Amino acid sequence: MLQMTQEWMEQDKALREQYSKNLKIGEEILYLSWQDCQDTGTTVEEIINATEQGMIDYSLKKTEMPAKIGIHPMQDSLMHAMPAYLPDQYACGIKWGSNFPDNRKLFGVTNTNCQIIYNDALTGMPMAIMDATWITELRTPATALVSIKYGGNLDATTWGMIGCGIQGKANVRMIEHMLPKLEKIYIYDVFEQAMDDLIAIDQPQVNAEIVKCSSYEELVKSAEIITSAIPIAHVPNPPVKDEWVSKGQTLVCLDCHTTYEDAVYKRADKYYQDSIEEHALLATYGVYPNGLPTITGETGEAAAGVVPARESKDELVIFNNVGMATEDMMCARIIFDRALEQGLGVKLPMWGSTKGMK
Ligand SMILES: NC(=O)c1ccc[n+]([C@@H]2O[C@H](COP(=O)([O-])OP(=O)(O)OC[C@H]3O[C@@H](n4cnc5c(N)ncnc54)[C@H](O)[C@@H]3O)[C@@H](O)[C@H]2O)c1
Repeated sequence: MLQMTQEWMEQDKALREQYSKNLKIGEEILYLSWQDCQDTGTTVEEIINATEQGMIDYSLKKTEMPAKIGIHPMQDSLMHAMPAYLPDQYACGIKWGSNFPDNRKLFGVTNTNCQIIYNDALTGMPMAIMDATWITELRTPATALVSIKYGGNLDATTWGMIGCGIQGKANVRMIEHMLPKLEKIYIYDVFEQAMDDLIAIDQPQVNAEIVKCSSYEELVKSAEIITSAIPIAHVPNPPVKDEWVSKGQTLVCLDCHTTYEDAVYKRADKYYQDSIEEHALLATYGVYPNGLPTITGETGEAAAGVVPARESKDELVIFNNVGMATEDMMCARIIFDRALEQGLGVKLPMWGSTKGMK
């Protein structure tokens, strides 16, 4: 548990006073849609930096963030409750996020959907309810980029993306922020249309040539660094064979152990998780039926320099980042500040006509 110190309280009071000029905290809530989040003009660099700080602060134990709990109404679906408090940042709130892999097919709506309730850390009052699909779309590739920063070769000319949905597209759009020398981006998805859609949307936005692969094997044997984001299977049936993966590669898993055969994780020279506690909880849900490999440390620890990052070009380095609320709240703080300054969103009354109990 992390409690308010005098120093944090002074800092928070000053910020609260500033916010109070534009929002009656305790009487109204700012509602921010996906479009409002986008309209704040928050840049990819800001999201990458905020995400990295969220990962570091978590690993240095400067935050309060319990492992996410969840419910799973449909086959392979998840709904996760993700609270976090980052006292240094006056950021506090909860994300309620879901992934239902059959949504598009069955109901014609997106598979991923998330909201954040963003709170005042001094009173617990909600200050904003904001879309968090926009934040999730960007901060998740940002976790991959932070991983690549510490575990990859930044001169790499080849990178691969397995899974071409929302995450696949966003990862492709953002990759050159960390790997500016890329010449080829290899992609693979079981649905050909998803690859074609990705190319149509993303090719005009990146310099490297996007190459459609005809198999996992082709992609894995072509790319120095690979990011994967396919639906997390509750009974894993990994499509990528151990023999296709080489020493020296960097694998960033945004989908737990869904993509690679278990032997790959077990022979990694370095294996990081974003939150060891989080993955230990996932293990109790049966996500890791073959057990976990030896853990080198947390991704944020590698970023903070308290555990070694990649040490030689021959190492097989793997990151398993399931996503953390500290990253979301860091980004939510930027969005909230900007939206309030710019007058974006809609203010909703908390109490109707009664104003609540005084
Ligand atoms: N780590 C994190 O912080 C984080 C955040 C958001 C999403 N995710 C995870 O990333 C994954 C993808 O999320 P999304 O929002 O892009 O979903 P999405 O539904 O938009 O995309 C998934 C894509 O994977 C493809 N696919 C399905 N099975 C496949 C397979 N076996 N091989 C190759 N491609 C396959 C689908 O055709 C689809 O294009 C999910 O597992 C989600 O839970 C992780």
